[in-house]
Amino acid sequence: MSTFVIIAVFSFFLGSIPFGYVIGKLKGVDVRKHGSGNIGATNVSRVLGKKWGAFVLFLDALKGAVPVLIVKLLGYPLEYQVLAGFLAILGHCFSPFMKFRGGKGVATGLGVFLVVSPLVTLIAALIFFAVFFTTRYVSLSSIIAALSFPIIFKILKAPPPSVSLLLFLTAFTVVAKHHQNIKRLLKGEEKKYR
Ligand code: G3P
Repeated sequence: MSTFVIIAVFSFFLGSIPFGYVIGKLKGVDVRKHGSGNIGATNVSRVLGKKWGAFVLFLDALKGAVPVLIVKLLGYPLEYQVLAGFLAILGHCFSPFMKFRGGKGVATGLGVFLVVSPLVTLIAALIFFAVFFTTRYVSLSSIIAALSFPIIFKILKAPPPSVSLLLFLTAFTVVAKHHQNIKRLLKGEEKKYR
């Protein structure tokens, strides 16, 4: 078996570790039964407080960053790095440990994007905060920031089509996982972050 196949499987399973759920359980709370029901940092912050939310954000971002970093350090080209990151995000969003449900991929995507391009991530993060401080909707900010990454990356870095395709697939996965947030946003029922 080639080294990359092993890394690909590792990336998916590392991404699958549901840190938000595990930390909630360690604190005696099933975060899926509270707030938005998501296992991500935003909902952990809502349910357990901002410190725990920040901790989950860090761990979820780390599990996205590590596979990309490994692939990068092993000298694989950019498309392999992005593929490993995409697999980690798929693991998070469709975790076999959570009956293939999982989270929405924002924090894990942040980790992936940070390693792929810190500059483009910084611009996407500024877009996130601009939307967030205007609307107080984390979901809308996440959706717009996730979509902005592949667009800005394409403009600034002119990547090969395979890289662009994988980055857009990553962003669309994140957007698709926000389908319930999108419905709530359209109905004016999404909760603002306080
Ligand atoms: O990290 C996911 C965020 O964009 C939305 O989370 O809990 O409000 O659905 P939540």
